[in-house]
Amino acid sequence: MSAPVIAIDGPSASGKGTIASRVARKVGFHYLESGALYRLIALLSLREDTLDETRLARLAGEIDLAFDDGEVLLDDESVTEKVRSELVGNRASEVARLPGLRQALLARQRAFRRPPGLVADGRDMGTVVFPDAELKVFLTATPEVRAERRYKQLIEKGIDANLRALSRDLRERDQRDAQRAVAPLAPAPDSQVLDSTALSIDEVVESIVGWWRGRTGGRA
Ligand code: DC
Repeated sequence: MSAPVIAIDGPSASGKGTIASRVARKVGFHYLESGALYRLIALLSLREDTLDETRLARLAGEIDLAFDDGEVLLDDESVTEKVRSELVGNRASEVARLPGLRQALLARQRAFRRPPGLVADGRDMGTVVFPDAELKVFLTATPEVRAERRYKQLIEKGIDANLRALSRDLRERDQRDAQRAVAPLAPAPDSQVLDSTALSIDEVVESIVGWWRGRTGGRA
């Protein structure tokens, strides 16, 4: 039997990264931030100045990447800050439309599924990558609240940000992600939708851990 998966999906800046990594810690599971994989490819796409699908799919299969306690490593180079930039995020949304690249990343993502279990966050975790996930959560929040959260995050890191521009970028990205032909942004039919607009991080984490424990009878 393969290790259990909790899939957490949702639009940009819905807080899924923070939530998913905390849920993983609480239940003692591994954690996959799939967006970071797309961001890594986006970084390479910017560095090589290419959107060539074949080239990017090949890179996706070949690159040496590692996630180490919040650090993102590419061929031993720490690119943690770089992959978090809005520039790379916007490019990630473009490269994520390429079916060949998504296909090439499937195996890499599934390799993270190891005992005792995996919490995976990202667009198509519950629909495409782990359709058999035991628990699927679709995390939402209004675009205004998401833009404000992203704004605070960037300012705290000392990165210059503009709330109106962020809000506009988020709406554009939502639209692009929802309308694309492959793996569009949408809740899996069997997912539980959680609106975090009025909830704290702790409340959201507790809800998800509660659902998980409810399913497993408190084993995890
Ligand atoms: O979640 P994020 O903002 O780090 O994701 C960056 C981009 O990658 C986002 O535009 C959606 C895309 N993405 C995707 O298509 N599929 C995933 N599993 C994860 C991210």
